[in-house]
Amino acid sequence: MVLVTGGTGLVGAHLLLHLLENGEQTVRAMYRNPKNPIKTKLLFELYEKSELFTKIEWVSADILDVPSLEIAFQNVDYVYHCAAFISFNPEDEEKLRKINIEGTANIVNFCIDKKVKKLCHVSSIAALGDLVLNESKPINNTITEATEWNPEYSHSDYAISKYGAEMEVWRGFQEGLAVVIVNPGVIFGPGFWNQGSGVIFSAVKKGFPFYTNGNSGYVSVIDVVTIMRQLLHSDCSGERFILISENYTYKNMLSSIAKKIGARTPTIKAKPWLLNLAWRLDWFASKVFRTKRKLSKHSVHSLQSKDLFSNEKIKKQLDYSFRDLDNYLNELVVFYNKIQ
Ligand SMILES: NC(=O)c1ccc[n+]([C@@H]2O[C@H](COP(=O)([O-])OP(=O)(O)OC[C@H]3O[C@@H](n4cnc5c(N)ncnc54)[C@H](OP(=O)(O)O)[C@@H]3O)[C@@H](O)[C@H]2O)c1
Repeated sequence: MVLVTGGTGLVGAHLLLHLLENGEQTVRAMYRNPKNPIKTKLLFELYEKSELFTKIEWVSADILDVPSLEIAFQNVDYVYHCAAFISFNPEDEEKLRKINIEGTANIVNFCIDKKVKKLCHVSSIAALGDLVLNESKPINNTITEATEWNPEYSHSDYAISKYGAEMEVWRGFQEGLAVVIVNPGVIFGPGFWNQGSGVIFSAVKKGFPFYTNGNSGYVSVIDVVTIMRQLLHSDCSGERFILISENYTYKNMLSSIAKKIGARTPTIKAKPWLLNLAWRLDWFASKVFRTKRKLSKHSVHSLQSKDLFSNEKIKKQLDYSFRDLDNYLNELVVFYNKIQ
């Protein structure tokens, strides 16, 4: 039996489909709100795979509710932990720590207790280390899996919670649990247009005019779930892998999407040091990162960061070729246009 947490979200729903398409026989998925599996059902319909949805065994469970996890973990051999809370609103600090760190600790404890064969945990590039840029070292702006987290640097609450979650997974590894961690960049995928990266499409469609020259790493949800399954079925354990297809500046990414959906490309460079632009940046960040219209220095920093992310480790590990992101965005636009 395979257990998927977060099966009503972008990654978990695509993973459920991918597992069933590839012959997985017994797949259990957790939900908190009985209305939410409909999101997963709609996604299966989008891909014209409705018949596979009926094969999912749904169980009501919350990763913070231990008795419900006792039921969810019955006869489970493998676990994919996709559930998390994503927010860049400073007011959500406690909720982020609770769901992402305490919730992951619960998953790890159950995996150990129930002798689960392997856990695949979904982290984020936000939980990766910090580059040391000083005069005594050559400037290298590429982050890898080995880049060390510096607790003295300023991080968003989301980043701290995802880093803390990884610490719980490493604890499980120390206690004998086989684990792999994936650290995706911004994940693009269809079906969840009101959350995560999905909102970028509607912001661009409305003619969002601002851009920055900061970078981020991007990846298709198809690559993420394909790699997760391959890693789970490999001998690899005790490793983490950055999952990005390409690094893009926000300007290039926004312009590319705008051209594809026939919207105006952003033309105004947003300079965060200009206070009179701060609210616009806040709005921009709220669209990209789902913040609740509250500008934080971390959002501003992320939008300007020139850091690049390396995908060399996973490419070598699995001999994997990522989808061409530009082509994938073309496919996404077809899905997006269907709901317009
Ligand atoms: N989306 C991205 O661009 C991105 C990038 C990098 C990393 N990630 C990571 O990828 C993972 C999946 O992200 P996503 O985009 O699929 O997120 P999402 O669409 O927001 O889905 C989150 C999932 O977590 C579930 N969840 C939240 N709190 C829970 C709890 N207490 N108990 C049980 N389930 C709970 C949600 O269930 P409900 O339906 O009940 O709310 C939902 O199924 C996360 O770990 C995230 O940090 C995402």
